[in-house]
Amino acid sequence: MSYLQMNPLRKDFPVIDQVIKGKRLCYLDSAATTLKPIMVIDEIDKYYRSETSNVHRGLYWLSENATFKFEETRDKIASLINSPHRSQVIFTKGTTEAVNLVAQSYGRSFFKKGDVILLSQMEHHSNIVPWQMIAEEVGAIIKMIPINEKGEIILDEYKKLLKDNVKFVSVVYVSNALGTINPAKEMIKLAHEKGAKVFIDAAQAVSHLKVDVMDLDADFLAFSGHKMFGPTGVGVLYGKKELLENMPPYQGGGDMIDVVTFEKTTYNNLPHKFEAGTPPIASVIALGKAVDYLLQVGFQKIHNIETELLEYGTKKLSSIPGLRIYGEAENKTSVISFGIDGIHPHDLASLIDKEGVAIRTGHHCTQPLMKFFKVTATCRASFSIYNNQEDIDQLYVSLLKIKTFFE
Ligand code: ALA
Repeated sequence: MSYLQMNPLRKDFPVIDQVIKGKRLCYLDSAATTLKPIMVIDEIDKYYRSETSNVHRGLYWLSENATFKFEETRDKIASLINSPHRSQVIFTKGTTEAVNLVAQSYGRSFFKKGDVILLSQMEHHSNIVPWQMIAEEVGAIIKMIPINEKGEIILDEYKKLLKDNVKFVSVVYVSNALGTINPAKEMIKLAHEKGAKVFIDAAQAVSHLKVDVMDLDADFLAFSGHKMFGPTGVGVLYGKKELLENMPPYQGGGDMIDVVTFEKTTYNNLPHKFEAGTPPIASVIALGKAVDYLLQVGFQKIHNIETELLEYGTKKLSSIPGLRIYGEAENKTSVISFGIDGIHPHDLASLIDKEGVAIRTGHHCTQPLMKFFKVTATCRASFSIYNNQEDIDQLYVSLLKIKTFFE
């Protein structure tokens, strides 16, 4: 039987089984944040109920236990992304902080006047603004890699832009607004041929694809826990060892030091050099459970479920007259961005909420992309492993009802 009719994973996610304002909840906003499985929720509960203590500091059992579990997550992440060494996995607040860390630390140390940084037209603001801030400071130049009407990076244009003055490329692996899967490995190879370093924003990739930093040969790669069935407030920055070792700390504070005197401070080794202050301990520990869950389901099953959802959803939504889908890349994940002629996306979003359907509407923090499609906003339905045919049918019927209301 297809997963569309009978999805056994739904029972793992308590939020999904709800009636809100008299309607069955239809959660289609997983690109904003995924729901959390019971094992992740239980782990957070356990830490606060019976295991609370700080990490890397105490010599008593509770602290040693928390430190063990915290560091165990680093091992699980290193293994998940195939990092050559655990010390290359740095915990951050999320993808945004990881981009800022690299822009401020690597960028301030190594970018100079006239250097070019390439970003694609489909980047999230969090992968644009931090580069603009450092570029303005050091006199570097940002250039944009264009996309086509299907929402794919135009590789020939990228190749033309890759000149000797390009020092850095930062590109999204999977677009949050379109679902496009970019050819990250090829783009990295091309950049390396010109001596440029590459940052991969994998925020939308980790819960859909097997991300392998060695196979990609990424210089830096980042993602957020909350988009991969884990808690909010924690993310990961991966970096090549020789790059991270030559970068100055991003923030000063406890844990990131070796010896402090008023004359001079020396810094801790990787990864602690970049982890100042008490980290989000419960979130990191529970992120380890999210990794366990991802691996327990397996990327093949994830792919199978999401492919069925995307194909069924695309077919249903395309049959609605006046509905346009933005983002029709050959290679995409389970995201459908759309608009309906004559209905403002915000009107649509508030009416569809009354039907129990949770979708995101707006510019999705991708204003340059909206400009390319000549819209100010789109509606976005994003599916994950707990969605089923009933969810898509509920979306479809609700859209038809709203359309009739406007006619
Ligand atoms: N970046 C997240 C989204 O696309 C918040 O919804």
